[in-house]
Amino acid sequence: MTGVGWLAVDVESVDRVLSTTRSVRRRLDFERPVEPEVIEACIDIATQAPTGLDRESWRFLVVTDPAKKRGVADLYRKSFEGMAERWAELAETLDLPQPPGERSTHRALAERLQDLPVLILVCAVGEPVRDDPVLEVSFYGSIFPAAWSLMLALRARGLGSTWTTLLLRERDATAKLLGIPEGVTQTVLLPVAYTKGANLRPARRKPAAQVAFWNEWGCPRQ
Ligand SMILES: Cc1cc2nc3c(=O)[nH]c(=O)nc-3n(C[C@H](O)[C@H](O)[C@H](O)COP(=O)(O)O)c2cc1C
Repeated sequence: MTGVGWLAVDVESVDRVLSTTRSVRRRLDFERPVEPEVIEACIDIATQAPTGLDRESWRFLVVTDPAKKRGVADLYRKSFEGMAERWAELAETLDLPQPPGERSTHRALAERLQDLPVLILVCAVGEPVRDDPVLEVSFYGSIFPAAWSLMLALRARGLGSTWTTLLLRERDATAKLLGIPEGVTQTVLLPVAYTKGANLRPARRKPAAQVAFWNEWGCPRQ
């Protein structure tokens, strides 16, 4: 522990959560229910994240109803298949890896999405402003820290999740299905379940020395 009282932090545990919050798509307990109180506790932690102009524009649409989950899963799969078809076209302009294969974890999640106990669609009240860089960045910047904190809080409690955006290609149908009003922007969908045998390890990432510049773009630390 370092510090005292509220300042006391178990750095090792915090760093472990921060570096092992991985996408969990397969090693999930589809049978074990997730307590609503646990989800709410995690959302309470998530909303400690920064929020532009103190607006707290985040909203968390927690989907547990089987018919609604099935509807979301169908839309997600529609987008997944559409994306797979567009892959080659996109690969020409973007630096994309191989498309998800038949046995990929991405496909495994898509196939079982309706079986996860909880799907959380993170939304923002309002719409992004495109003609002002401050407002543009602030819009999603007021939501994503909370969404990531939510994944971290879930991970700390033994729950797995994945940061997904594919559903957004079907956002109109999603809005209809879930009663999302106009003027509310959908962002990430976090499918949530207790993990089962998941091996959560730090990912292989480039070290700070390769991705950080000091004082001038391109300059390494002296
Ligand atoms: C912006 C963004 C969008 C993503 N969208 C999806 C998605 O729709 N479906 C999915 O299965 N994974 C999605 N992912 C997860 C990535 O495919 C990838 O698994 C993840 O970023 C790597 O995390 P890991 O090291 O924990 O596996 C997304 C990640 C990011 C950052």
